[in-house]
Amino acid sequence: MTEEAYGSGPERHRLTRRRFIRTTGAAGAGAVAAGMIPSRAAAAGTGTAGYPVQPIVELSALAPETTVPFTYPDDRAPALLLRMSESALGGVGPDSSIVAFSTLCTHKGCPVSYRPEHRLLICPCHWSTFDPAKAGGLVIGQASQALARIELRIESDMVVATGVDGLIYGRHTNLI
Ligand code: FES
Repeated sequence: MTEEAYGSGPERHRLTRRRFIRTTGAAGAGAVAAGMIPSRAAAAGTGTAGYPVQPIVELSALAPETTVPFTYPDDRAPALLLRMSESALGGVGPDSSIVAFSTLCTHKGCPVSYRPEHRLLICPCHWSTFDPAKAGGLVIGQASQALARIELRIESDMVVATGVDGLIYGRHTNLI
């Protein structure tokens, strides 16, 4: 997948072209800052084309810095939902702090884990580090791509997965 980098130095992050256009071109910087990134799965009851609509956890059960492991879009694709203590790029919920990512590192597929003391997702194999507050962008390490981001929305009191932005490690297509 073609990618574009933005920023410079160690804080450099990567976004897919699609993600960049969606988050900056379509919504504008103000909307991004407010966590109002438009979703392709905005219509109630539908997911992104072909993706399942999968309830993950009740919103009222999610305290800040809570993590919820799940699988999506199938049971061979581990993922992690996080409610951060700050708003996050692409986040959902009242404070735009809820995000989710595939936990398969984009370097060689080791499982990343959330380190609350750093507020980062870190891979134990070669220490690639990803920022969940910045769309899973790479902070440092041998990976070259952001983590695949699980698209979410809120339905009543439920956090629901509706699609995946980016390719899950090891797959030619996310839906298999
Ligand atoms: S597999 Fe994650 S950094 Fe190598």
